[in-house]
Amino acid sequence: ARLAQFRETVWAVYHRHYRPMEWRSDPSPYRVFISEIMLQQTQVSRVAQKFPPFVERFPGFRELAEAPFPEVLTVWSGLGYNRRARYAQESARKILEDQGGHLPRDTKVLQTLPGIGPNTAGSIAAFAFNEPVVFIETNIRRVFLEHFFPHREKVHDREILPLVEAALEKDRSREWYWALMDYGVLLARTGKNANRRSAHYAVQSPFEGSDRQIRGALLRL
Ligand code: ADE
Repeated sequence: ARLAQFRETVWAVYHRHYRPMEWRSDPSPYRVFISEIMLQQTQVSRVAQKFPPFVERFPGFRELAEAPFPEVLTVWSGLGYNRRARYAQESARKILEDQGGHLPRDTKVLQTLPGIGPNTAGSIAAFAFNEPVVFIETNIRRVFLEHFFPHREKVHDREILPLVEAALEKDRSREWYWALMDYGVLLARTGKNANRRSAHYAVQSPFEGSDRQIRGALLRL
């Protein structure tokens, strides 16, 4: 019953606060792969600016694999953490050589690619392939802490992951994780930590209305 109510809340927030993004409207494996690498350390608003020119110049794994690295770096510029540009190209080359040019959907195989850890592998499998994978990242963690551990300071991911698994909407993994991430961003803006909210959230959050209005709407759900 608790899980059912949790899911209802997550979907309700999603329907009101879904964040349209270039890579969500066409979640092809390549586009998801590139966007998730960009989103590892860069805020959504900046990725939204840099993603379109990148996938236009390098529309697939082959184009990325065959490009001179300085050119990849040029198109990457503005995203920071340039090591990721190298990882992306090395991954593209590996995918061509070892996977016949197709992004693997198995998270274990995804993690053999440079720069792909368990969380990025999970997000790629969910968003690109709608795989019912279990993973966690900052925003997802915030949602589960708020709902299931409201009075605890320290909660290990070991304790959260079984809940992520139990709550997962297995047939709609892609949308479910979009919904969790959007909800997590909303909580960051409106929750207990709203006063510590950084410019980061102020910029990346396209939600309508003041924080107080949003908080109110959430509590009325
Ligand atoms: N939508 C798809 N991937 C995302 C991510 N990593 N962070 C936020 N929203 C996303």
